[in-house]
Amino acid sequence: MPKHRKTVTGNIYDHPAYYDIIFGAEWAKERNFLVAACDTYAHCKVRRLFEPACGTGRLLFRLAKLGYGVTGLDLNPHAVAYCNARMERHALDGRAVVGDMSDFHLRQKADAAFNLINSFRHLPDEKSAAAHLRCIRDALTPGGIYLLGLHLTPKGESDCEAESWQAKRGPVTVRSHLWTKRLDRRKREETVGIEFDVTSPRQALTLVDEFVFRTYSAKQMANLIHKVEGLEWISTHDFDYQIDQPIDIDSSSEDVIYVLRRQ
Ligand SMILES: C[S@@+](CC[C@H](N)C(=O)[O-])C[C@H]1O[C@@H](n2cnc3c(N)ncnc32)[C@H](O)[C@@H]1O
Repeated sequence: MPKHRKTVTGNIYDHPAYYDIIFGAEWAKERNFLVAACDTYAHCKVRRLFEPACGTGRLLFRLAKLGYGVTGLDLNPHAVAYCNARMERHALDGRAVVGDMSDFHLRQKADAAFNLINSFRHLPDEKSAAAHLRCIRDALTPGGIYLLGLHLTPKGESDCEAESWQAKRGPVTVRSHLWTKRLDRRKREETVGIEFDVTSPRQALTLVDEFVFRTYSAKQMANLIHKVEGLEWISTHDFDYQIDQPIDIDSSSEDVIYVLRRQ
């Protein structure tokens, strides 16, 4: 065990190997939900999947292994390189490209798209959020679906202000701590602190970062979806990922997955 822990401040997404360990641990539930949602909600045969803000492609990789055609897009070149290197290593065809999820065009349309864990909230304003939904609509075949998961900011106090968990892959352990530093409902900004404590036989490293996530109440999200013609909100689930348990949303809802269908 290394004696000294080094602390580095910077973009946590520049460290895809550690990101993939800590956010990759629960992939099976998410993947199974995605497959079930395609079977349940899409009005077309789902063969091609697209993930905007795909990061390391932890889900794309597992879906490609099931035989889906997959593509992804992410702003971070380190994450995209990690994603593509893993696909290549496993002789899978799917690839990701560097791009902005509020300004993209797919050459070949997808039958379903997904964005499950809050990445959408990185978009800083209503204009980019609406532009994202329009790009998604145009990227989907008619009857195709978009599964959009995010943490809503409920009325009153949220009971989800900090979370810590850890995961291990081979000799590397990553402990993650995520907490709300500031919540400004008027500006619609939640400042979130994030730390990864990485421990391996070679090094002990703490990565420190901070994001500003745009906040959404249930009503704000409904208004945004309503603005985008051609995408119909057909169902909602929560982060239990139970396909047979859709939920109703109200002002106290927090972790939700919107199921939108291209008309
Ligand atoms: C929480 S990670 C999620 C990654 C992946 N979807 C997953 O489930 O593991 C958020 C990702 O959003 C990406 N991102 C942030 N803003 C973006 C934008 N405007 N366009 C594309 N990707 C973006 C980040 O680079 C990061 O990889």
